[in-house]
Amino acid sequence: MAEIIFNEVTVSYGDFPVLKDLTFVVEKEDFVIVMGPNGTGKTTLIKTLLGVKKPDKGLVYVLGCPVQKVCPHRKKIGYVPQFQSIDPDFPATLCDVVLTGSYANLGYLKLPGKEEKEEALRLIEEVGLKGMENHPFGRLSGGQQRRGLIARALMGSPRILVLDEPTAGVDLASQNQVRRTIQEIYEKTRIPVLLVTHDINPFLSLVTKIVLLGYGKHFVGEKDEIIREEILREVYGEYVKIIEVAGRKYVMTRDYHYA
Ligand SMILES: Nc1ncnc2c1ncn2[C@@H]1O[C@H](COP(=O)(O)OP(=O)(O)OP(=O)(O)O)[C@@H](O)[C@H]1O
Ligand SMILES: [Mg+2]
Repeated sequence: MAEIIFNEVTVSYGDFPVLKDLTFVVEKEDFVIVMGPNGTGKTTLIKTLLGVKKPDKGLVYVLGCPVQKVCPHRKKIGYVPQFQSIDPDFPATLCDVVLTGSYANLGYLKLPGKEEKEEALRLIEEVGLKGMENHPFGRLSGGQQRRGLIARALMGSPRILVLDEPTAGVDLASQNQVRRTIQEIYEKTRIPVLLVTHDINPFLSLVTKIVLLGYGKHFVGEKDEIIREEILREVYGEYVKIIEVAGRKYVMTRDYHYA
């Protein structure tokens, strides 16, 4: 059975369906990008996957278990939420924040111990933040905070990694570091990744499948089925161009160029 299954899922706020009859599967080792303009339901899709938002219709399975029921596998999803700015005086260190990733697996009233602390330090090193574990989290740069939240998501060895726009709002160098971190984790663990991003280009070599959301429509398919001008134009409008440089494809949309 696939690692994630969305089967004809409709999700609404009030009477307004944001996702309508959405079907897709994520298999072992898939690297899935969820893309689409603002407000098309990318975060809603993730909330539905996590069991936080209930669908009106359809079923969602994670690791073989319907998420609408009590699903122990929900704990096996490492989740990096869409970024919210953090007060520079937020009273927690990087290590404190990463350790909160162990709480779901520890259970009620159990505090992280030596083992979890060692795991947190190992993951902090893995995301390239070694030596920063005692820094106040709110005083790290935006890119460092993103990498810290990725380390947090990896606590307890998740079987699926879900990230909601982890490269949004940081400078280009930091975006590259976050992207490299995601790539390294994927190549090392080969756990399926479901990544929401507006910028597919840096990930095009990794992507296996794409869920493209538009207003009132969606397209799901293998990378080569979706990365086509006629499909992307259905969602982004006429200002879409795919260019090829040195054998690599790049998707250009008006979003990136503010023409
Ligand atoms: N809690 C809510 N109550 C009512 N409407 C909501 C709620 N959350 C989201 N929506 C609406 O649902 C639609 C989809 O929102 P969602 O946050 O899933 O979009 P998104 O694709 O993640 O957008 P963005 O690119 O801005 O992050 C939007 O029209 C949004 O206003
Ligand atoms: Mg969103």
